[in-house]
Amino acid sequence: MTRAVGILVVSIPGNLMLSHLLPARREFPADDPIFALNSEAQARAAKGEAVINTTVGALLDDHGQLVVLDTVMELWRELTPKEIAPYAPIAGDPVFLTSLVQRYWPDLDQFGTGCATPGGSGALALSLLNFLEPGQAVFCFSPYWGPYATISAENGRRLRTYPLPSPGHTWEALDLQRALKELMQEQGRLLLWFNDPCHNPTGRSSSPAGRAMLFEILRELTQLGPITLLLDLAYLEYTADPGEVMHALQDYARFAGEGTVLVGASLSVSKALTLYGARAGALVFPWTHDAPLQAALAMSCRGIFSNAPRAPQSLVVRLARDGKAQARLADEHRHWSLKLQVRAHALSDALRSEKLPGVPWQGGFFVTLPAPDPEAVAAKLRERGIFVVPMAEGLRVGVCGMKAVDAPIFALAYKESL
Ligand SMILES: Cc1ncc(COP(=O)(O)O)c(C=O)c1O
Repeated sequence: MTRAVGILVVSIPGNLMLSHLLPARREFPADDPIFALNSEAQARAAKGEAVINTTVGALLDDHGQLVVLDTVMELWRELTPKEIAPYAPIAGDPVFLTSLVQRYWPDLDQFGTGCATPGGSGALALSLLNFLEPGQAVFCFSPYWGPYATISAENGRRLRTYPLPSPGHTWEALDLQRALKELMQEQGRLLLWFNDPCHNPTGRSSSPAGRAMLFEILRELTQLGPITLLLDLAYLEYTADPGEVMHALQDYARFAGEGTVLVGASLSVSKALTLYGARAGALVFPWTHDAPLQAALAMSCRGIFSNAPRAPQSLVVRLARDGKAQARLADEHRHWSLKLQVRAHALSDALRSEKLPGVPWQGGFFVTLPAPDPEAVAAKLRERGIFVVPMAEGLRVGVCGMKAVDAPIFALAYKESL
């Protein structure tokens, strides 16, 4: 038994500004805004109020319970002490990296260059540290997953955003090119985070034409400096059309194979295996073998988190060796993808019944609804017990946590709050 001996606990009155804390670090909100909304929703529900909470970023069943994939839990229970307890190699278990990459690009026989990270968040952070100088900006499309801004700021970098095309459209090529070129000219290099397919928070995926346009622009811009395209792949298992996802991944592989732009991926087991809390993922460049890049990534791992957790890496390796488990897992993913699709369609139908435009969903956990003043609309909805996440571009609605039967109530309240 371990006992803490002689620890002196000094309590500091809450109203005193702790002078030890750097001035620049004193003005943050006490709670993450999304977690704060979620807590309020849960507290009101606990008091008996009928609440529709679409703020959660995890998949819930129709009883509001966290979905945990059975196949994954069975594998987890099989893990032996040696698959859990030891440190993993600094840059991650190479078999894990290859296994994870092969889930998305089954034709590859190795992971190329890469490292294991604590979730996709870790991979995003490492990409900033290795491909941008301090103060430079990573290019991403808006709306974006909120923590992009936090991850950039905490790593001394910034975001430069450009709007995603509206549903059914592609970008205006010359304008997108201008925006990318401007940033390239400012900093002599580009890093793009591209959360596609199954984008958070729009629930949409790029079209083949959209991807082709982006590739063409990037190809041309490589004449001005190095470009890294990092695919942020967090939700691929939850899609209306797995064939479409596969097609997109093959497009990315072909583009990577050209060797003009460095293409990599931020991978995560959080949603893919419902192992949110296991904190596992990877930053990989499957089409690149580069010793200095490999060494730099290992150095980042060592300096930032030492090494990523061993148990989820072992689980991914077990999964890769177990065809039956893979088939069961694929069935579970189809089941939950259909559930998300049913919810998204119910929402879309309910919006149309209120004479509003429907909302497309191709994959992922969310959809985005337009709102003239998102904060105000979200506040009005909140008064009615409906919780959404306001963003500059609209309202993030988590179909991952919203029952289909609640769609008509939601749609009416949304209409009346606009
Ligand atoms: C778009 C996107 N990227 C990356 C992540 C990373 O998640 P994690 O760090 O849990 O792997 C998330 C999680 O919500 C996400 O939504």
